[in-house]
Amino acid sequence: MRKIILYIATSADGFIAGQNGDLSWLHQPKFALDGEDFGYGALLESVDTTLMGYRTYDFVRNMDMPFPYSGMKNFVITAKRDRRPNQEVEFITDDIPGFCQDLKQQKGLNIWLIGGGQLNSILLNARLIDEIILTTIPVILGKGIPVFDGSAEYVFLKCDHSKTYSNGFIQSVYYPKYD
Ligand SMILES: NC(=O)c1ccc[n+]([C@@H]2O[C@H](COP(=O)([O-])OP(=O)(O)OC[C@H]3O[C@@H](n4cnc5c(N)ncnc54)[C@H](OP(=O)(O)O)[C@@H]3O)[C@@H](O)[C@H]2O)c1
Repeated sequence: MRKIILYIATSADGFIAGQNGDLSWLHQPKFALDGEDFGYGALLESVDTTLMGYRTYDFVRNMDMPFPYSGMKNFVITAKRDRRPNQEVEFITDDIPGFCQDLKQQKGLNIWLIGGGQLNSILLNARLIDEIILTTIPVILGKGIPVFDGSAEYVFLKCDHSKTYSNGFIQSVYYPKYD
């Protein structure tokens, strides 16, 4: 079965975005390492589908660049039925867990759960996240958008391994243990 993999970066205090969606803390030039992509290329080779909450999609489509995931099948979760479809993404409004469970049964490569925190909790609570690749950025934000929003339920994680980069990033691979 295809896996749903959450590949995401957080601050050391667990935020995926600062106030007002600020991501400047993540893209600081001092964090760049020559020839290092923090596993992003390998992830892209292993997936052919993405899942995003609408707020994440809205942020991505308003970035000053072409839509970055156009080579993939992209599903955006929204509760609003009047979102206008486009060539980039398909909007999903009903039974998000059921839809994602069906997606996992279909043929294909793995599925990248891009985020954000609301969608992450929906899929965690439905026990559908198979793997979490969490890159911790050495900054404290104090406030912002958490990697799992307040609806997330208790789940124990088995840490498979961690890697420390010379810029201070720590990337850990976790497997949720739902039982
Ligand atoms: N650091 C990173 O690596 C990283 C990665 C991903 C995202 N982010 C950041 O995370 C932020 C967004 O995260 P977020 O937690 O605020 O939002 P999100 O999970 O991306 O999206 C939330 C939206 O999903 C829809 N939704 C939520 N629950 C639903 C349900 N039960 N059924 C149907 N639709 C539902 C709603 O869309 P509607 O309002 O349209 O109904 C809701 O507004 C952005 O700032 C983004 O840049 C950071």
